[in-house]
Amino acid sequence: MSDLRRALGEAVQAAFAAIGAPPELGRVTASDRPDLADFQSNGALAAAKTLGRNPREIATAVVEKLAGDPRLAAVEIAGPGFINLKVADATLGARADTIAADARAGAETVTEPRRVIVDYGGPNVAKPMHVGHLRASIIGESLKRLYRFRGDTVVGDAHFGDWGYQMGLLIGAVMDESPAVAAVVDAINAGQPGDVAAFNAVTLADLDRLYPEAAARGKADTDYRDRARRITAALQVKQPGYYALWERFRTVTKVALERDFHALGVDFDWWKGESDVEHLIAPMVAELDAKGLLVDDQGARIIRVVREGDKRELPPLLVVSSEGSAMYGTTDLATILDRKREFDPHLVIYCVSPRQAHHFATVYRAAYPAGYAVAGQLEHVGFGTMNGTDGKPFKTREGGVLKLNDMIEMSRDKARARLHEAGLGEDLPAPEFEDIAGKVAVAALKFADLQNFRGTSYVFDLDRFTSFEGKTGPYLLYQAVRVKSLLRRAEAEGHTTGPVTVAEPAERDLVLTLDAFDAALAEAYDKKAPNVLAEHAYRLSQAFSKFYAACPILQAAPAVRASRLTLATAALRQSELALDLLGIAAPDRM
Ligand code: ARG
Repeated sequence: MSDLRRALGEAVQAAFAAIGAPPELGRVTASDRPDLADFQSNGALAAAKTLGRNPREIATAVVEKLAGDPRLAAVEIAGPGFINLKVADATLGARADTIAADARAGAETVTEPRRVIVDYGGPNVAKPMHVGHLRASIIGESLKRLYRFRGDTVVGDAHFGDWGYQMGLLIGAVMDESPAVAAVVDAINAGQPGDVAAFNAVTLADLDRLYPEAAARGKADTDYRDRARRITAALQVKQPGYYALWERFRTVTKVALERDFHALGVDFDWWKGESDVEHLIAPMVAELDAKGLLVDDQGARIIRVVREGDKRELPPLLVVSSEGSAMYGTTDLATILDRKREFDPHLVIYCVSPRQAHHFATVYRAAYPAGYAVAGQLEHVGFGTMNGTDGKPFKTREGGVLKLNDMIEMSRDKARARLHEAGLGEDLPAPEFEDIAGKVAVAALKFADLQNFRGTSYVFDLDRFTSFEGKTGPYLLYQAVRVKSLLRRAEAEGHTTGPVTVAEPAERDLVLTLDAFDAALAEAYDKKAPNVLAEHAYRLSQAFSKFYAACPILQAAPAVRASRLTLATAALRQSELALDLLGIAAPDRM
Protein backbone atom coordinates (compact mmCIF):
# COMPACT_ATOMS: atom_id res chain seq x y z
CA MET A 1 0.00 0.00 0.00
CA SER A 2 1.74 3.09 -1.14
CA ASP A 3 1.12 6.71 -0.26
CA LEU A 4 -0.58 9.05 -2.71
CA ARG A 5 2.55 10.94 -3.55
CA ARG A 6 4.34 7.79 -4.64
CA ALA A 7 1.30 6.33 -6.42
CA LEU A 8 0.80 9.52 -8.39
CA GLY A 9 4.52 9.76 -8.97
CA GLU A 10 4.39 6.39 -10.70
CA ALA A 11 1.56 7.59 -12.93
CA VAL A 12 3.41 10.77 -13.86
CA GLN A 13 6.62 8.85 -14.49
CA ALA A 14 4.75 6.45 -16.77
CA ALA A 15 3.37 9.47 -18.65
CA PHE A 16 6.90 10.86 -19.01
CA ALA A 17 8.10 7.53 -20.38
CA ALA A 18 5.14 7.39 -22.77
CA ILE A 19 6.12 10.67 -24.40
CA GLY A 20 9.77 9.70 -24.62
CA ALA A 21 11.02 11.75 -21.68
CA PRO A 22 13.27 10.29 -18.93
CA PRO A 23 10.76 8.84 -16.44
CA GLU A 24 12.81 9.73 -13.34
CA LEU A 25 12.13 13.39 -14.09
CA GLY A 26 8.43 12.81 -13.40
CA ARG A 27 8.96 13.00 -9.64
CA VAL A 28 5.99 14.28 -7.66
CA THR A 29 6.28 16.45 -4.56
CA ALA A 30 3.82 18.09 -2.21
CA SER A 31 2.50 21.30 -3.74
CA ASP A 32 4.15 24.62 -2.92
CA ARG A 33 0.71 26.17 -3.35
CA PRO A 34 -1.74 24.03 -1.38
CA ASP A 35 -4.46 26.52 -2.32
CA LEU A 36 -4.05 25.54 -5.98
CA ALA A 37 -3.04 21.90 -5.92
CA ASP A 38 -2.14 18.95 -3.71
CA PHE A 39 0.93 17.75 -5.57
CA GLN A 40 3.16 19.03 -8.31
CA SER A 41 5.71 17.77 -10.79
CA ASN A 42 8.35 20.11 -12.15
CA GLY A 43 9.99 17.56 -14.43
CA ALA A 44 8.80 19.05 -17.71
CA LEU A 45 11.40 21.80 -17.39
CA ALA A 46 14.31 19.41 -17.12
CA ALA A 47 12.81 17.10 -19.74
CA ALA A 48 12.56 20.05 -22.14
CA LYS A 49 16.28 20.66 -21.76
CA THR A 50 17.15 17.01 -22.37
CA LEU A 51 14.85 16.68 -25.36
CA GLY A 52 15.42 20.16 -26.74
CA ARG A 53 11.73 20.95 -26.72
CA ASN A 54 9.49 23.55 -25.20
CA PRO A 55 8.57 22.80 -21.54
CA ARG A 56 4.90 23.74 -21.88
CA GLU A 57 4.62 21.46 -24.86
CA ILE A 58 6.02 18.59 -22.82
CA ALA A 59 3.78 19.39 -19.88
CA THR A 60 0.78 19.43 -22.20
CA ALA A 61 1.68 16.04 -23.61
CA VAL A 62 2.11 14.62 -20.08
CA VAL A 63 -1.21 16.08 -18.96
CA GLU A 64 -2.95 14.48 -21.92
CA LYS A 65 -1.61 11.09 -20.86
CA LEU A 66 -2.86 11.67 -17.31
CA ALA A 67 -6.35 12.68 -18.41
CA GLY A 68 -8.91 10.15 -17.34
CA ASP A 69 -6.97 8.96 -14.26
CA PRO A 70 -9.89 8.62 -11.84
CA ARG A 71 -7.67 9.52 -8.88
CA LEU A 72 -7.17 13.02 -10.20
CA ALA A 73 -9.84 15.71 -9.95
CA ALA A 74 -7.76 18.18 -11.93
CA VAL A 75 -4.42 18.29 -13.75
CA GLU A 76 -3.24 21.74 -14.75
CA ILE A 77 -0.19 23.44 -16.14
CA ALA A 78 1.13 26.50 -14.39
CA GLY A 79 3.84 28.98 -15.31
CA PRO A 80 6.55 27.72 -17.66
CA GLY A 81 5.47 24.08 -17.37
CA PHE A 82 4.77 23.02 -13.79
CA ILE A 83 2.19 20.27 -13.59
CA ASN A 84 -0.31 20.70 -10.76
CA LEU A 85 -2.27 17.73 -9.51
CA LYS A 86 -5.44 17.83 -7.47
CA VAL A 87 -6.58 14.55 -5.98
CA ALA A 88 -10.21 13.44 -6.22
CA ASP A 89 -12.18 13.57 -2.97
CA ALA A 90 -13.07 9.90 -3.26
CA THR A 91 -9.40 8.94 -3.57
CA LEU A 92 -8.56 10.96 -0.45
CA GLY A 93 -11.43 9.32 1.42
CA ALA A 94 -10.26 5.85 0.45
CA ARG A 95 -6.69 6.66 1.45
CA ALA A 96 -7.90 7.91 4.83
CA ASP A 97 -9.87 4.71 5.33
CA THR A 98 -6.75 2.65 4.63
CA ILE A 99 -4.64 4.67 7.05
CA ALA A 100 -7.34 4.48 9.71
CA ALA A 101 -7.57 0.70 9.37
CA ASP A 102 -3.80 0.31 9.64
CA ALA A 103 -2.23 -0.20 13.06
CA ARG A 104 0.89 1.52 11.66
CA ALA A 105 -1.14 4.47 10.40
CA GLY A 106 0.22 4.26 6.89
CA ALA A 107 3.85 3.54 7.72
CA GLU A 108 5.68 1.03 5.56
CA THR A 109 8.64 -1.13 6.50
CA VAL A 110 11.99 -1.36 4.74
CA THR A 111 12.25 -4.03 2.07
CA GLU A 112 15.56 -5.36 3.34
CA PRO A 113 15.62 -5.28 7.13
CA ARG A 114 19.05 -5.02 8.68
CA ARG A 115 20.60 -5.71 12.04
CA VAL A 116 21.49 -2.38 13.59
CA ILE A 117 23.20 -1.38 16.84
CA VAL A 118 22.73 2.10 18.22
CA ASP A 119 25.54 2.94 20.63
CA TYR A 120 24.34 5.99 22.53
CA GLY A 121 23.99 7.80 25.85
CA GLY A 122 27.65 7.26 26.70
CA PRO A 123 27.37 6.86 30.51
CA ASN A 124 30.48 6.30 32.62
CA VAL A 125 31.18 4.80 36.02
CA ALA A 126 31.37 7.42 38.75
CA LYS A 127 30.23 10.27 36.59
CA PRO A 128 26.64 11.40 36.96
CA MET A 129 25.12 12.33 33.65
CA HIS A 130 25.22 15.96 32.71
CA VAL A 131 23.71 18.06 29.94
CA GLY A 132 26.43 16.83 27.59
CA HIS A 133 24.75 13.43 27.65
CA LEU A 134 21.33 14.86 26.90
CA ARG A 135 21.58 14.98 23.12
CA ALA A 136 23.45 11.68 22.84
CA SER A 137 20.61 10.08 24.79
CA ILE A 138 17.64 11.79 23.18
CA ILE A 139 18.80 11.47 19.57
CA GLY A 140 20.11 7.93 20.02
CA GLU A 141 16.88 6.78 21.62
CA SER A 142 14.86 8.23 18.76
CA LEU A 143 17.07 6.63 16.09
CA LYS A 144 16.80 3.30 17.87
CA ARG A 145 12.99 3.50 17.89
CA LEU A 146 12.79 4.76 14.32
CA TYR A 147 15.01 2.01 12.91
CA ARG A 148 13.10 -0.62 14.83
CA PHE A 149 9.76 0.73 13.66
CA ARG A 150 10.90 0.61 10.04
CA GLY A 151 11.54 -3.09 10.45
CA ASP A 152 15.21 -3.46 11.33
CA THR A 153 16.35 -5.63 14.22
CA VAL A 154 17.81 -3.03 16.53
CA VAL A 155 19.78 -3.13 19.75
CA GLY A 156 20.43 -0.04 21.83
CA ASP A 157 23.67 -0.33 23.80
CA ALA A 158 24.86 2.06 26.52
CA HIS A 159 28.51 1.02 26.08
CA PHE A 160 29.10 1.72 29.76
CA GLY A 161 32.48 3.40 30.33
CA ASP A 162 33.89 1.25 33.11
CA TRP A 163 37.39 0.10 32.23
CA GLY A 164 39.84 2.91 31.62
CA TYR A 165 42.36 4.99 33.51
CA GLN A 166 39.54 6.78 35.37
CA MET A 167 38.96 3.52 37.26
CA GLY A 168 42.54 3.47 38.49
CA LEU A 169 42.27 7.12 39.51
CA LEU A 170 39.10 6.48 41.46
CA ILE A 171 40.26 3.34 43.18
CA GLY A 172 43.35 5.21 44.37
CA ALA A 173 41.32 8.20 45.52
CA VAL A 174 38.79 6.13 47.44
CA MET A 175 41.55 4.13 49.13
CA ASP A 176 43.36 7.33 50.12
CA GLU A 177 40.23 8.73 51.67
CA SER A 178 39.08 5.62 53.51
CA PRO A 179 41.68 3.54 55.40
CA ALA A 180 38.94 0.98 56.14
CA VAL A 181 38.29 0.45 52.45
CA ALA A 182 42.01 0.46 51.67
CA ALA A 183 42.66 -2.21 54.29
CA VAL A 184 40.06 -4.53 52.77
CA VAL A 185 41.34 -3.93 49.23
CA ASP A 186 44.93 -4.64 50.27
CA ALA A 187 43.92 -7.76 52.17
CA ILE A 188 41.96 -9.20 49.24
CA ASN A 189 44.74 -8.30 46.84
CA ALA A 190 47.14 -10.21 49.07
CA GLY A 191 44.86 -13.26 49.01
CA GLN A 192 43.70 -12.79 52.58
CA PRO A 193 40.07 -12.67 53.70
CA GLY A 194 38.47 -9.25 53.62
CA ASP A 195 34.88 -8.20 54.10
CA VAL A 196 33.60 -6.38 51.03
CA ALA A 197 30.69 -5.08 53.13
CA ALA A 198 33.12 -2.26 53.94
CA PHE A 199 32.67 -1.08 50.36
CA ASN A 200 28.96 -0.44 50.85
CA ALA A 201 29.88 2.86 52.50
CA VAL A 202 31.08 4.14 49.12
CA THR A 203 28.32 6.12 47.46
CA LEU A 204 27.90 7.71 44.08
CA ALA A 205 28.15 11.10 45.78
CA ASP A 206 31.61 10.10 47.03
CA LEU A 207 32.70 9.04 43.56
CA ASP A 208 31.26 12.15 42.05
CA ARG A 209 33.17 14.30 44.52
CA LEU A 210 36.45 12.39 44.33
CA TYR A 211 36.69 11.91 40.59
CA PRO A 212 37.26 15.52 39.47
CA GLU A 213 39.85 16.01 42.22
CA ALA A 214 41.65 12.84 41.27
CA ALA A 215 41.53 13.67 37.57
CA ALA A 216 43.03 17.11 38.22
CA ARG A 217 45.73 15.68 40.46
CA GLY A 218 46.52 13.00 37.88
CA LYS A 219 47.30 15.76 35.42
CA ALA A 220 49.50 17.76 37.77
CA ASP A 221 51.29 15.04 39.71
CA THR A 222 53.17 12.39 37.74
CA ASP A 223 53.67 10.03 40.70
CA TYR A 224 49.97 10.12 41.36
CA ARG A 225 49.27 9.50 37.69
CA ASP A 226 51.70 6.58 37.52
CA ARG A 227 50.10 4.97 40.52
CA ALA A 228 46.66 5.34 38.94
CA ARG A 229 48.01 3.74 35.79
CA ARG A 230 49.46 0.86 37.75
CA ILE A 231 46.17 0.33 39.54
CA THR A 232 44.36 0.43 36.19
CA ALA A 233 46.67 -2.23 34.78
CA ALA A 234 46.19 -4.35 37.92
CA LEU A 235 42.42 -3.96 37.70
CA GLN A 236 42.48 -5.05 34.09
CA VAL A 237 44.18 -8.30 35.05
CA LYS A 238 41.49 -8.61 37.70
CA GLN A 239 43.59 -8.27 40.83
CA PRO A 240 40.84 -9.30 43.25
CA GLY A 241 40.86 -6.41 45.75
CA TYR A 242 40.70 -3.74 43.08
CA TYR A 243 38.20 -5.73 41.14
CA ALA A 244 35.86 -6.08 44.11
CA LEU A 245 35.96 -2.34 44.83
CA TRP A 246 35.42 -1.59 41.15
CA GLU A 247 32.33 -3.80 41.15
CA ARG A 248 30.91 -1.61 43.89
CA PHE A 249 31.58 1.51 41.77
CA ARG A 250 29.82 -0.06 38.85
CA THR A 251 26.74 -1.06 40.78
CA VAL A 252 26.13 2.25 42.56
CA THR A 253 26.61 4.18 39.35
CA LYS A 254 24.41 2.02 37.21
CA VAL A 255 21.47 2.24 39.58
CA ALA A 256 21.57 6.04 39.51
CA LEU A 257 22.15 6.20 35.77
CA GLU A 258 19.28 3.91 34.97
CA ARG A 259 17.02 6.06 37.10
CA ASP A 260 18.02 9.20 35.19
CA PHE A 261 17.75 7.57 31.80
CA HIS A 262 14.40 6.10 32.63
CA ALA A 263 13.03 9.44 33.79
CA LEU A 264 13.96 10.69 30.35
CA GLY A 265 12.26 7.81 28.55
CA VAL A 266 15.59 6.31 27.54
CA ASP A 267 16.02 2.57 28.08
CA PHE A 268 18.84 0.41 26.76
CA ASP A 269 18.60 -3.16 25.54
CA TRP A 270 22.21 -3.80 26.44
CA TRP A 271 24.27 -2.31 29.24
CA LYS A 272 27.46 -3.86 28.02
CA GLY A 273 30.50 -2.29 29.61
CA GLU A 274 33.94 -1.70 28.20
CA SER A 275 34.96 -4.33 30.75
CA ASP A 276 32.77 -6.93 29.05
CA VAL A 277 35.26 -7.26 26.22
CA GLU A 278 38.23 -7.68 28.56
CA HIS A 279 38.56 -11.38 27.70
CA LEU A 280 38.84 -10.53 23.99
CA ILE A 281 41.72 -8.10 24.33
CA ALA A 282 44.72 -10.44 24.72
CA PRO A 283 43.72 -12.68 21.78
CA MET A 284 42.83 -9.57 19.76
CA VAL A 285 46.25 -8.04 20.38
CA ALA A 286 47.88 -11.32 19.32
CA GLU A 287 45.79 -11.39 16.17
CA LEU A 288 46.51 -7.76 15.31
CA ASP A 289 50.16 -8.53 15.83
CA ALA A 290 49.99 -11.60 13.58
CA LYS A 291 48.36 -9.46 10.91
CA GLY A 292 51.28 -7.08 11.14
CA LEU A 293 49.18 -4.15 12.20
CA LEU A 294 50.89 -3.38 15.52
CA VAL A 295 53.87 -1.08 15.75
CA ASP A 296 56.07 -0.58 18.83
CA ASP A 297 56.20 3.00 19.94
CA GLN A 298 58.20 3.89 23.08
CA GLY A 299 57.04 0.81 24.94
CA ALA A 300 53.46 1.12 23.77
CA ARG A 301 51.81 -0.73 20.91
CA ILE A 302 49.93 1.27 18.32
CA ILE A 303 48.20 0.96 14.96
CA ARG A 304 48.98 3.69 12.45
CA VAL A 305 45.92 4.83 10.55
CA VAL A 306 47.12 7.75 8.43
CA ARG A 307 46.23 7.56 4.78
CA GLU A 308 47.62 9.37 1.83
CA GLY A 309 45.67 12.48 1.03
CA ASP A 310 44.35 13.00 4.60
CA LYS A 311 43.71 16.65 5.27
CA ARG A 312 44.46 16.29 8.95
CA GLU A 313 46.77 13.70 10.39
CA LEU A 314 44.87 11.24 12.56
CA PRO A 315 46.75 10.11 15.66
CA PRO A 316 47.51 6.37 15.79
CA LEU A 317 45.31 4.02 17.77
CA LEU A 318 46.94 3.30 21.12
CA VAL A 319 46.20 -0.39 21.62
CA VAL A 320 48.41 -1.26 24.59
CA SER A 321 49.85 1.47 26.81
CA SER A 322 53.39 1.28 28.11
CA GLU A 323 51.94 0.03 31.45
CA GLY A 324 50.26 -2.76 29.53
CA SER A 325 46.73 -1.33 29.88
CA ALA A 326 43.90 -1.40 27.40
CA MET A 327 42.82 2.09 26.40
CA TYR A 328 39.51 3.64 25.36
CA GLY A 329 40.22 2.82 21.72
CA THR A 330 41.30 -0.73 22.59
CA THR A 331 37.98 -1.52 24.21
CA ASP A 332 36.15 0.15 21.34
CA LEU A 333 37.99 -2.01 18.83
CA ALA A 334 37.35 -5.15 20.86
CA THR A 335 33.69 -4.13 21.11
CA ILE A 336 33.46 -4.02 17.33
CA LEU A 337 34.81 -7.57 17.26
CA ASP A 338 32.45 -8.65 20.04
CA ARG A 339 29.44 -7.16 18.28
CA LYS A 340 30.41 -8.87 15.05
CA ARG A 341 30.53 -12.21 16.80
CA GLU A 342 27.43 -11.76 18.90
CA PHE A 343 25.13 -9.93 16.52
CA ASP A 344 26.85 -9.43 13.16
CA PRO A 345 25.36 -5.97 12.57
CA HIS A 346 24.93 -4.46 9.13
CA LEU A 347 25.23 -1.05 10.70
CA VAL A 348 26.46 0.43 13.98
CA ILE A 349 25.41 3.99 14.72
CA TYR A 350 27.55 5.75 17.32
CA CYS A 351 25.49 8.63 18.63
CA VAL A 352 28.31 10.39 20.47
CA SER A 353 29.60 13.94 20.88
CA PRO A 354 31.34 15.30 17.77
CA ARG A 355 34.40 15.87 19.94
CA GLN A 356 35.04 12.17 19.54
CA ALA A 357 35.04 12.30 15.74
CA HIS A 358 38.80 11.67 15.56
CA HIS A 359 38.61 8.86 18.04
CA PHE A 360 36.01 7.05 15.96
CA ALA A 361 37.75 7.74 12.67
CA THR A 362 40.88 6.18 14.16
CA VAL A 363 39.11 3.16 15.62
CA TYR A 364 37.18 2.50 12.40
CA ARG A 365 40.32 2.68 10.32
CA ALA A 366 41.94 0.13 12.59
CA ALA A 367 38.87 -2.12 12.42
CA TYR A 368 38.84 -2.43 8.63
CA PRO A 369 42.28 -3.97 8.03
CA ALA A 370 41.75 -6.10 11.15
CA GLY A 371 38.73 -7.56 9.37
CA TYR A 372 36.27 -6.63 12.12
CA ALA A 373 34.12 -4.37 9.92
CA VAL A 374 33.89 -3.06 6.41
CA ALA A 375 33.68 0.57 5.33
CA GLY A 376 30.18 2.00 5.70
CA GLN A 377 29.26 -0.34 8.53
CA LEU A 378 30.38 1.92 11.35
CA GLU A 379 28.99 5.40 11.46
CA HIS A 380 29.59 8.19 13.92
CA VAL A 381 26.49 10.36 14.14
CA GLY A 382 27.39 13.58 15.91
CA PHE A 383 25.28 16.54 16.93
CA GLY A 384 25.45 20.23 17.79
CA THR A 385 25.55 21.50 21.36
CA MET A 386 22.84 22.75 23.61
CA ASN A 387 23.87 26.30 24.38
CA GLY A 388 23.11 28.96 26.93
CA THR A 389 21.82 32.38 25.90
CA ASP A 390 25.48 33.43 25.54
CA GLY A 391 25.82 31.02 22.61
CA LYS A 392 28.29 28.82 24.50
CA PRO A 393 27.59 25.27 25.73
CA PHE A 394 25.01 25.49 28.49
CA LYS A 395 26.29 26.08 32.04
CA THR A 396 24.55 26.57 35.37
CA ARG A 397 24.27 30.07 36.77
CA GLU A 398 27.36 29.30 38.89
CA GLY A 399 29.21 28.35 35.72
CA GLY A 400 29.18 24.61 36.47
CA VAL A 401 27.98 21.71 34.41
CA LEU A 402 24.29 20.99 34.95
CA LYS A 403 23.57 17.42 35.99
CA LEU A 404 21.01 15.65 33.91
CA ASN A 405 19.02 14.75 36.98
CA ASP A 406 18.84 18.42 37.99
CA MET A 407 17.79 19.37 34.51
CA ILE A 408 14.96 16.84 34.58
CA GLU A 409 13.89 18.16 37.99
CA MET A 410 13.97 21.74 36.69
CA SER A 411 11.74 20.88 33.77
CA ARG A 412 9.35 18.96 35.97
CA ASP A 413 9.01 22.00 38.25
CA LYS A 414 8.39 24.16 35.25
CA ALA A 415 5.90 21.67 33.81
CA ARG A 416 3.91 21.70 37.05
CA ALA A 417 3.83 25.48 37.01
CA ARG A 418 2.75 25.51 33.37
CA LEU A 419 -0.05 23.04 34.06
CA HIS A 420 -1.30 25.18 36.95
CA GLU A 421 -1.05 28.31 34.85
CA ALA A 422 -3.17 26.71 32.12
CA GLY A 423 -5.60 25.20 34.65
CA LEU A 424 -4.77 21.71 33.42
CA GLY A 425 -4.89 18.49 35.41
CA GLU A 426 -5.72 20.22 38.67
CA ASP A 427 -8.75 18.12 39.51
CA LEU A 428 -6.86 14.89 38.88
CA PRO A 429 -5.44 12.69 41.66
CA ALA A 430 -1.96 13.80 42.75
CA PRO A 431 -0.08 10.75 41.40
CA GLU A 432 -1.70 11.21 37.99
CA PHE A 433 -0.85 14.91 38.01
CA GLU A 434 2.76 13.99 38.75
CA ASP A 435 2.80 11.50 35.91
CA ILE A 436 1.45 14.17 33.55
CA ALA A 437 4.01 16.71 34.72
CA GLY A 438 6.74 14.14 34.04
CA LYS A 439 5.42 13.54 30.55
CA VAL A 440 5.14 17.25 29.82
CA ALA A 441 8.71 17.78 31.05
CA VAL A 442 10.12 15.00 28.89
CA ALA A 443 8.11 16.13 25.86
CA ALA A 444 9.40 19.68 26.36
CA LEU A 445 13.07 18.67 26.51
CA LYS A 446 12.93 16.09 23.77
CA PHE A 447 10.86 17.96 21.26
CA ALA A 448 12.96 21.10 21.71
CA ASP A 449 16.00 19.01 20.94
CA LEU A 450 14.65 16.83 18.14
CA GLN A 451 12.93 19.57 16.18
CA ASN A 452 16.37 20.83 15.13
CA PHE A 453 18.49 18.94 12.67
CA ARG A 454 20.87 17.08 14.94
CA GLY A 455 23.91 18.87 13.55
CA THR A 456 22.47 22.24 14.54
CA SER A 457 23.09 23.73 17.98
CA TYR A 458 20.22 25.29 19.90
CA VAL A 459 19.64 27.49 22.90
CA PHE A 460 18.27 26.08 26.13
CA ASP A 461 15.11 28.01 26.97
CA LEU A 462 12.91 26.15 29.41
CA ASP A 463 10.21 28.83 29.33
CA ARG A 464 9.72 28.35 25.63
CA PHE A 465 10.20 24.57 25.66
CA THR A 466 7.45 24.06 28.24
CA SER A 467 4.88 26.39 26.72
CA PHE A 468 1.59 24.86 25.63
CA GLU A 469 1.64 27.15 22.64
CA GLY A 470 3.91 27.17 19.62
CA LYS A 471 6.13 24.47 18.24
CA THR A 472 6.67 22.61 21.47
CA GLY A 473 6.33 19.15 22.96
CA PRO A 474 3.64 20.27 25.42
CA TYR A 475 1.58 21.70 22.55
CA LEU A 476 1.68 18.31 20.82
CA LEU A 477 0.68 16.53 24.01
CA TYR A 478 -2.16 18.94 24.58
CA GLN A 479 -3.50 18.33 21.08
CA ALA A 480 -3.28 14.56 21.50
CA VAL A 481 -5.12 14.79 24.80
CA ARG A 482 -7.85 16.87 23.17
CA VAL A 483 -8.44 14.16 20.59
CA LYS A 484 -8.46 11.49 23.26
CA SER A 485 -11.12 13.29 25.23
CA LEU A 486 -13.20 13.87 22.09
CA LEU A 487 -13.04 10.17 21.27
CA ARG A 488 -13.99 9.24 24.82
CA ARG A 489 -17.01 11.51 24.60
CA ALA A 490 -18.01 10.03 21.25
CA GLU A 491 -17.78 6.56 22.68
CA ALA A 492 -19.82 7.48 25.74
CA GLU A 493 -22.50 8.89 23.47
CA GLY A 494 -22.50 5.67 21.48
CA HIS A 495 -21.10 7.07 18.23
CA THR A 496 -19.01 4.90 15.97
CA THR A 497 -16.59 5.54 13.12
CA GLY A 498 -17.45 5.08 9.45
CA PRO A 499 -16.08 5.54 5.93
CA VAL A 500 -14.36 8.85 5.28
CA THR A 501 -15.86 11.36 2.89
CA VAL A 502 -13.74 14.42 2.21
CA ALA A 503 -15.55 17.67 1.58
CA GLU A 504 -14.03 20.55 3.56
CA PRO A 505 -10.57 21.99 2.80
CA ALA A 506 -9.50 21.20 6.38
CA GLU A 507 -10.43 17.56 5.83
CA ARG A 508 -8.42 17.43 2.61
CA ASP A 509 -5.47 18.95 4.32
CA LEU A 510 -5.66 16.51 7.22
CA VAL A 511 -5.77 13.50 4.87
CA LEU A 512 -2.86 14.81 2.82
CA THR A 513 -0.88 15.30 6.02
CA LEU A 514 -1.69 11.78 7.20
CA ASP A 515 -0.58 10.55 3.78
CA ALA A 516 2.83 12.19 4.20
CA PHE A 517 3.78 10.11 7.28
CA ASP A 518 5.64 7.36 5.46
CA ALA A 519 7.71 9.77 3.38
CA ALA A 520 8.70 11.61 6.58
CA LEU A 521 9.69 8.34 8.23
CA ALA A 522 11.74 7.27 5.24
CA GLU A 523 13.57 10.58 5.09
CA ALA A 524 14.22 10.64 8.84
CA TYR A 525 15.56 7.09 8.57
CA ASP A 526 17.79 7.69 5.56
CA LYS A 527 19.26 10.90 6.93
CA LYS A 528 19.31 9.73 10.53
CA ALA A 529 17.39 12.90 11.20
CA PRO A 530 14.53 12.65 13.71
CA ASN A 531 13.78 16.33 13.10
CA VAL A 532 11.99 15.34 9.89
CA LEU A 533 9.65 13.22 11.96
CA ALA A 534 9.29 15.96 14.58
CA GLU A 535 8.25 18.33 11.81
CA HIS A 536 5.67 15.84 10.60
CA ALA A 537 4.25 15.42 14.11
CA TYR A 538 3.92 19.18 14.42
CA ARG A 539 2.25 19.57 11.03
CA LEU A 540 -0.16 16.80 11.85
CA SER A 541 -1.11 18.53 15.10
CA GLN A 542 -1.70 21.75 13.26
CA ALA A 543 -3.73 20.08 10.54
CA PHE A 544 -5.84 18.38 13.17
CA SER A 545 -6.33 21.55 15.10
CA LYS A 546 -7.58 23.38 11.99
CA PHE A 547 -9.85 20.49 11.13
CA TYR A 548 -11.22 20.47 14.66
CA ALA A 549 -11.94 24.18 14.54
CA ALA A 550 -13.55 24.09 11.07
CA CYS A 551 -15.47 20.82 11.16
CA PRO A 552 -17.99 20.06 13.90
CA ILE A 553 -17.78 16.40 14.84
CA LEU A 554 -20.22 15.27 17.52
CA GLN A 555 -22.92 17.69 16.32
CA ALA A 556 -22.64 16.67 12.65
CA ALA A 557 -25.15 14.45 10.83
CA PRO A 558 -24.50 10.72 11.49
CA ALA A 559 -22.55 9.86 8.29
CA VAL A 560 -20.41 12.99 8.51
CA ARG A 561 -19.84 12.42 12.22
CA ALA A 562 -18.74 8.83 11.57
CA SER A 563 -16.35 10.01 8.84
CA ARG A 564 -14.85 12.69 11.04
CA LEU A 565 -14.47 10.31 13.95
CA THR A 566 -12.46 8.05 11.65
CA LEU A 567 -10.24 10.97 10.74
CA ALA A 568 -9.77 11.88 14.39
CA THR A 569 -8.93 8.29 15.30
CA ALA A 570 -6.38 8.01 12.50
CA ALA A 571 -4.82 11.35 13.39
CA LEU A 572 -4.48 10.37 17.03
CA ARG A 573 -2.92 7.02 16.22
CA GLN A 574 -0.43 8.52 13.81
CA SER A 575 0.41 11.31 16.18
CA GLU A 576 1.04 8.92 19.08
CA LEU A 577 3.19 6.72 16.86
CA ALA A 578 5.24 9.70 15.72
CA LEU A 579 5.64 10.95 19.29
CA ASP A 580 6.65 7.51 20.46
CA LEU A 581 9.39 7.41 17.82
CA LEU A 582 10.65 10.68 19.24
CA GLY A 583 10.62 9.02 22.65
CA ILE A 584 7.64 11.04 23.86
CA ALA A 585 4.52 9.63 25.54
CA ALA A 586 1.18 11.46 25.73
CA PRO A 587 -0.98 11.22 28.86
CA ASP A 588 -4.64 10.15 28.52
CA ARG A 589 -5.93 13.38 29.97
CA MET A 590 -4.72 16.59 31.55
N1 ARG B 1 31.67 6.80 27.72
C1 ARG B 1 32.17 7.57 26.63
C2 ARG B 1 32.41 9.02 27.05
O1 ARG B 1 31.88 9.48 28.01
C3 ARG B 1 31.24 7.57 25.45
C4 ARG B 1 31.02 6.22 24.84
C5 ARG B 1 30.64 6.31 23.40
N2 ARG B 1 30.60 5.05 22.74
C6 ARG B 1 31.68 4.38 22.32
N3 ARG B 1 31.51 3.23 21.72
N4 ARG B 1 32.89 4.84 22.51
O2 ARG B 1 33.14 9.72 26.39
